[in-house]
Amino acid sequence: MQKKLKTLTLALLVAGCTGSQKPAIDEPTLKEVFNDDFTIGTALSADQIEGKDAAADSLVRKQFNVLTAENSMKSMFLQPEWGKFDFALGDKLVEYARQNNMQVIGHTLIWHSQLPSYAQGMTSKDSVQTFFRDHIQTVASRYDQKILGWDVVNEALNEDGTIRSTVFQRLLGDDYVTEAFRLAQQAAPDTELYYNDYNIEQPAKRAGAVRLIRQIREAGVRIDGVGIQGHWHAGKVPLKDIEDSILEYAALGIKVMITELDLEVLPRDFTGAEISQRMKDPADPSLNPYTSGLPDSVQTQLATDYEALFKLFLKHKDKISRVTFWGVNDGQSWLNGWPLPGRTNYPLLFDREYQPKPAYYKVIDAKKN
Ligand code: XIL
Repeated sequence: MQKKLKTLTLALLVAGCTGSQKPAIDEPTLKEVFNDDFTIGTALSADQIEGKDAAADSLVRKQFNVLTAENSMKSMFLQPEWGKFDFALGDKLVEYARQNNMQVIGHTLIWHSQLPSYAQGMTSKDSVQTFFRDHIQTVASRYDQKILGWDVVNEALNEDGTIRSTVFQRLLGDDYVTEAFRLAQQAAPDTELYYNDYNIEQPAKRAGAVRLIRQIREAGVRIDGVGIQGHWHAGKVPLKDIEDSILEYAALGIKVMITELDLEVLPRDFTGAEISQRMKDPADPSLNPYTSGLPDSVQTQLATDYEALFKLFLKHKDKISRVTFWGVNDGQSWLNGWPLPGRTNYPLLFDREYQPKPAYYKVIDAKKN
C-alpha cells in the first residue's frame, strides 16, 4: 500500500513538473492571449527564415503573428553590391508569413550600422544621394502591399536628442530623415512608416524623437508610428519613462510599438543598444556568470520585470499596436554575442530548449490578473 502511494506521488510529481514546463497543446499562446490587445512579434534569423530550425518553426507558428527579419532586410544584405539587390531571404520571409497568416515588418531602410561597406565609405554627396534614393525606392516598392510596415529610419538620434553624425547626416544634412520618409511614402503608399530607436523612452532622447516626428509631419510627409526598441536590463526596467513615452508618442497621433524587446541579465557597463559599442574590460571573468544555468533569484527577477512590462502594455493597449521580441529563444539572442562575444544570456521568454520560462507564464498571467 505504502509503495503504491509512493509510486503515485512520484507519478503526480513528474506529471506536475512537466506540466509546468510545457504548456498543454490547448493552452492559449501569446498571440491568442493578447489577440484583442496588440500583435506579438519575433525576429527571425537567416537560418530560421530558411526553415533550418524546425523547433523554432513550430514555436513561431504557435506563439507569434508578426515577423521581423533580424538581419536579412538590412541594406548590407539587400544590396550587397552597389546596384545589385538580393531579395531571396526577404521574399522567403514574406512568403512564410503569407502562408501562416502573419504580418511582416521591414527592418530597416536607412541605418548607419550594417550598411554595405561601399556605402559606409562614400565621401561624395552625389553617391550617397543616389544610394539613399535607389535603395529606398527599390526595396520599399518591392514589398509594398506585401508587408505591414517599414522601420524607415533606425537610430538617427544621439542620447541628448540631437541628430547623430552618420554618413547620411554629414552628406545630406539633418533633413535626411524627412527625405527618407518622403521617398518611402512615394515608393510604398500602402505600407506603414515608422521611426525606430533605442533609449527613446529616456527624456532627452525622447524629446529629440518627438521633434523629429513633428518635423516630418510639418514637411507634409507621412509617419505612422514609432518603435521603442526595448533593449532593457532585468532589475532596471525604466517603467515610468516607458509609460511617459507611450503617452507622449501616442499624443502625437501615431502608433506606438515595442519593437526589439529583450531583458539583459548579464553585467553591462552601459545601457542602450549601440551595436558598435563594447565592454570596457572584456577579459573580466565575472562578466559571464551564468554559463551553467540561471540562478532562481535572477529567473524570478526576469519574470517579475516581464510581468510588470506587460501589465503596463495592457494598461495602454489602446495606444500600443505591437510588441516584438528580439529573437525566438535564449539560444538565438544577439545578447549572447554583444557587447561581448561568447556569453550565455537569458533575455527572452523561451529557453535554449524552446521551452517557456517562468517569465512566459508571468506574461500570460498579466492578462488574467
Ligand atoms: C542586431 C542583430 O540581432 C545581430 O544579429 C546583428 O549582429 C547586429 O544587429 N538594434 C537594431 C537591430 O535595430 O537591428 C540590432 O540587431 C540590435 C540593435
